[in-house]
Amino acid sequence: MDYPNLVAVLLAVAVLASLPAPSQQVKSGDMVVSGSGSESGFDKWVALNQQSYVVNAALYAKKAAGDGGKTLDANLSSAEAAKVTYVVDPKGKGDYTNITEALDAVPVGNTKRVILDLKPGEYREKLFINSSKPFVTFRSDPMDPAVIVWNDTAATLGKEGKPVGTVGSTTVAIESDYFVASGVVFKNDAPLAKPGAKGGQAVALRVFGTKAALYNCTIVGGQDTLYDHKGLHYFKDCVIKGSVDFIFGFGRSLYEGCTIVSVVKEVAVLTAQQRTKTIEGAIESGFSFKNCTIKGEGQIYLGRAWGDSSRVIYAFTEMGKEVVPVGWDGWNIAKPESSGIYYGEFKCTGAGSDARKRVGWALELTDEQAKPFIGTHYVFGDSWLTSPPSDT
Ligand SMILES: *[C@@H]1O[C@H](CO)[C@@H](O)[C@H](O)[C@H]1NC(C)=O
Ligand SMILES: *[C@@H]1O[C@H](CO)[C@@H](O)[C@H](O)[C@H]1NC(C)=O
Ligand SMILES: *[C@@H]1O[C@H](CO)[C@@H](O)[C@H](O)[C@H]1NC(C)=O
Ligand SMILES: *[C@@H]1O[C@H](CO)[C@@H](O)[C@H](O)[C@H]1NC(C)=O
Ligand SMILES: *[C@@H]1O[C@H](CO)[C@@H](O)[C@H](O)[C@H]1NC(C)=O
Ligand SMILES: *[C@@H]1O[C@H](CO)[C@@H](O)[C@H](O)[C@H]1NC(C)=O
Repeated sequence: MDYPNLVAVLLAVAVLASLPAPSQQVKSGDMVVSGSGSESGFDKWVALNQQSYVVNAALYAKKAAGDGGKTLDANLSSAEAAKVTYVVDPKGKGDYTNITEALDAVPVGNTKRVILDLKPGEYREKLFINSSKPFVTFRSDPMDPAVIVWNDTAATLGKEGKPVGTVGSTTVAIESDYFVASGVVFKNDAPLAKPGAKGGQAVALRVFGTKAALYNCTIVGGQDTLYDHKGLHYFKDCVIKGSVDFIFGFGRSLYEGCTIVSVVKEVAVLTAQQRTKTIEGAIESGFSFKNCTIKGEGQIYLGRAWGDSSRVIYAFTEMGKEVVPVGWDGWNIAKPESSGIYYGEFKCTGAGSDARKRVGWALELTDEQAKPFIGTHYVFGDSWLTSPPSDT
């Protein structure tokens, strides 16, 4: 993926556009958190999610995996019933001293939930979880987290002396399904690219597997921080920091209760969602932000269209004054109003949320239009979201 002169283009756009800165009850669209890791807690969680499914049934498409999302996916149920924990401690008091070694110990074709209990500290490692190793959990204490960090950029030279590119710059790449992380910091600490510089993409986390859930995690970098590449993803109570296009890809994802922060004084673009007719399956994708907070330093665009049918929704989100009044940018799409782009806002608050000043082709969603996006049903969560891993 190449972004020629991106920031330069953006800065130009920005100048043109620059106006004065501006419970446990199961209900439709709600997420039910049981908090308990015990077996009965888990069963209760599943039962509650299924009640939620019944309430939301009309919203489910047959496209959800397995039986359409009615019951917890059988492979996942059996994996959860057979948990194993590996302790990873850089100080040497665990089973492994680094994550690379612990992941090597996960068998190919893994069928058990493998929890890597990551003790606090910095893990300077570049990680790749192969698709043959599903059901991996990274668990750490959000108050004293494991920080996984590397510093490649798209311009870093790889083994053959060629630039590694955006995908290759990634600190932690997840290609397996059923990944879970809780309380972990994913970071790319390459120096921030200068506006207009080439090869500055520096991905901290790339999620390519489906049915991935991240709770209480921090994902931090500059340009292209989070490659929400492909699959069904759920981000709950996470902090995501970056600059240009810092949440991008064709995942179908719900971001709930997340804090999204621009780290540049110039112009930041929060999303570059790649829903498109030309990549198989990508038309099912979209990013839905619910109950999030957006803030930062310079101006912030809510999104620009990487794909011809780019789709992003913000609901119940607090938008800081840094969000530019026009909100959105069509990028390379000549006629955004008719290309299939779907950008909408619903009941957002804050100085940057005034929908009346948005580009003409952005939507202020009605209740009916917002409904499909504002719950875990958007990611068919009832068939695969389990309770967040507990500390024990
Ligand atoms: C469950 O696992 C089996 C064996 O690995 C696989 O063939 C099947 O596709 C999986 N089912 C789902 C719904 O992922
Ligand atoms: C992980 O630990 C093993 C065993 O101590 C060591 O051989 C390996 O180099 C370490 N890898 C990383 C990436 O730190
Ligand atoms: C993933 O693991 C399988 C089985 O070990 C291997 O054949 C394959 O090359 C690996 N894929 C990548 C991208 O590393
Ligand atoms: C990445 O970090 C290493 C050491 O931690 C350093 O030698 C290297 O120059 C850094 N690379 C970049 C692109 O900053
Ligand atoms: C996030 O971490 C805080 C502090 O440890 C904890 O109280 C909360 O339950 C966690 N939330 C989730 C979704 O794991
Ligand atoms: C939004 O999140 C806050 C705390 O993170 C929570 O108290 C509140 O109930 C949430 N609101 C909605 C509409 O989900």
